[in-house]
Amino acid sequence: MIAISLAASAPKTGTLVLPVAKDGLSGAALPGLSPENVSLVRAGGATHRFEGESASVSDFFVTDGGEARRVLLAGTGQGSVEDYEKLGAAVTTRLLTSGETEAVIDLSGLVIKPSAEAVARLAAGIVLRGWRHDVYRTKLPEKQKPTLQSVTIVGAPDGSDAAWANAKAVTEGVAFTRELVTEPANVVYPASFVERCRKLAALGVEIEVLGRKELEAAGMGALLGVSQGSVREPQLLVMRWDGSNGAKTPPVVFVGKGVTFDTGGISLKPPAGMEDMKWDMGGAGAVAGMMLALATRKAKAHVVGVCALVENMPDGNAQRPGDVVTSMSGQTIEVINTDAEGRLVLCDAMTWVQKKYAPKVMVDLATLTGAMIISLGFEHAGIFSNDDELAGLLIKAGKEAGDPLWRFPLSPAYDKLIESPIADMKNVGPREGGSITAAQFLQRFVDEGVKWAHLDIAGMVWASKPGAVWDKGATGYGVRLLDRFVADNFEG
Ligand code: BES
Ligand code: MN
Ligand code: ZN
Repeated sequence: MIAISLAASAPKTGTLVLPVAKDGLSGAALPGLSPENVSLVRAGGATHRFEGESASVSDFFVTDGGEARRVLLAGTGQGSVEDYEKLGAAVTTRLLTSGETEAVIDLSGLVIKPSAEAVARLAAGIVLRGWRHDVYRTKLPEKQKPTLQSVTIVGAPDGSDAAWANAKAVTEGVAFTRELVTEPANVVYPASFVERCRKLAALGVEIEVLGRKELEAAGMGALLGVSQGSVREPQLLVMRWDGSNGAKTPPVVFVGKGVTFDTGGISLKPPAGMEDMKWDMGGAGAVAGMMLALATRKAKAHVVGVCALVENMPDGNAQRPGDVVTSMSGQTIEVINTDAEGRLVLCDAMTWVQKKYAPKVMVDLATLTGAMIISLGFEHAGIFSNDDELAGLLIKAGKEAGDPLWRFPLSPAYDKLIESPIADMKNVGPREGGSITAAQFLQRFVDEGVKWAHLDIAGMVWASKPGAVWDKGATGYGVRLLDRFVADNFEG
């Protein structure tokens, strides 16, 4: 993790990063440079066609008293908080493996100063874009190793320290989620996922774990049916954070799909790309990362996060297409396709958490359907909700935090598509509208009066190319969204 410090004056060492507003180059103050270098860099920036656009960077060397120093101009665009976050990420992208170990971002020359919130987002962008998981790369060439270790931000307004302390907790949550998502399925499986979350206990998170025996006793036939082809023991991981001193009861609850590997089971997936299914636990990963963020920043809210952890394998003992299972709710399910396993796992976790905590608000996150990726690509997750206000609050939080959502419909007409001739429902509908019938399935397990939203994050957990604040690989989608949703609606 790149270390951030906020300082009153600029160190003379390390790359000097000078933010410049859109179209502000010709008059930019460029603090820390001699008058000659100001002229040089302004002219050089113009030559580079640098115009201060969001996330644009222009790179120079100057000499000052015989010493060479690297200088970056970095565009603030319109100066929004998102622009500052992108600026931070762009600086990291440029410097991470550049050989440079430290950088100074001097904000003091800007005519329009960033808010404390914008400074926190700037720092978050730096840190998020610098996250890597190189633990298995024993032969990483020297030149590909990260060098950037610390960034000092100068000229930040009052309140920036506090804003960054909160944002930093969120970046730590995102990093934890990315780690869980990135680890292969031979390393992160239900029991080891739980072990990695045990560290949250030291932050004050109460941890409860249900193993096979407890899941059987609770009657979670749908979840257990998915798990029965795997030698890995299923786990229901329950993490509870109460920063309200018991004032806010019942808790808001989050439920994550944690299929640590999804082969499809007997309805086996084709081999091409199957390795992607190590990240079929991205919903559970986001819940775990959110809990870490909330507990680290001591959120004044009462929150329960449930991770439904199983492995979906084909085996002599695996469940078969056509099997009928009885869920914890008592409702029976005909398992037409063993690859539609996420909903089977989630439905029992949702029933359990509603029974135990009687929440008024429940949000689930899942890499539930490939159809969601056909609908929205890799730019939005889908949201389904039985409550317009809840949907609006989540969409707003997602937009502000950088994890965008797009709403889909629910209706009885879609619900009819999962009727079964032998059981209360079947686990798949027709191909068309596949994400919606999956959501309709889940809705059948939502108790009367519970405001519920389902986020299908299948397209957002893993990126095949670098994004605003991530490299290719695990994005940590959902952590910033959920943290913001809790902060805006359940604290204070
Ligand atoms: N985990 C998959 C969904 C998925 C696919 C997530 C690709 C991310 C990328 C889920 O368990 C699944 O297999 N869904 C099936 C449902 C179908 C059998 C109704 C799908 O989408 O094909
Ligand atoms: Mn599947
Ligand atoms: Zn799956």
